Amino acid sequence: MAEAGTSFEGSDVDVDFRNAMRRLSSAVAIVVAEGVDGFTGMAATSITSLTLEPPAVLICVNKSASLHACIQDGAPFTVNLLSRHQREVSAAFGGAVARELRFTVGQWTRDPYGIPMLDDTQANLSCVVDGIMAYGTHSIVVGRVRHVRLTGEIAPLIYQDGTYL
Ligand SMILES: Cc1cc2nc3c(=O)[nH]c(=O)nc-3n(C[C@H](O)[C@H](O)[C@H](O)COP(=O)(O)O)c2cc1C
Repeated sequence: MAEAGTSFEGSDVDVDFRNAMRRLSSAVAIVVAEGVDGFTGMAATSITSLTLEPPAVLICVNKSASLHACIQDGAPFTVNLLSRHQREVSAAFGGAVARELRFTVGQWTRDPYGIPMLDDTQANLSCVVDGIMAYGTHSIVVGRVRHVRLTGEIAPLIYQDGTYL
């Protein structure tokens, strides 16, 4: 018997799913790669630790994102795990700031392979594309990690219910 406030068959799954995902807390990262027009980056909560052997992460990238073409072309990329004080960087790379101006937000240096990496993050992962699977509007990307930089205390930026904790 369904209790009041619960939804099963006959419910609007799309709306319920969206609301369910608002209750999923996720750490925020900025993913950066080089494209034909220079470096491009986007905010992402879809980062998942995939395997330790080999060290690999999984990222879901919307096919409409400018980063997608770079990744599909096999461009190496960085995953910059944001610290709690970096909401502004998340907002900028989430689309609030024009693509060509995003790297003016935050302090950026380069990883050993010349890809921009953000300072004062939780960690920076340097990755190469090791697999891509298309699913609906997105591509599921496997990133093989070839370099890691750790910084400071553990205090990640968390996104939940359309806002930051
Ligand atoms: C907190 C947050 C998390 C996001 N997570 C993802 C994600 O995991 N995958 C994705 O494709 N877009 C995600 N987005 C949306 C992209 O960051 C946004 O659409 C970005 O503007 C795409 O880059 P572009 O404008 O260069 O195409 C997220 C946005 C925000 C603010």
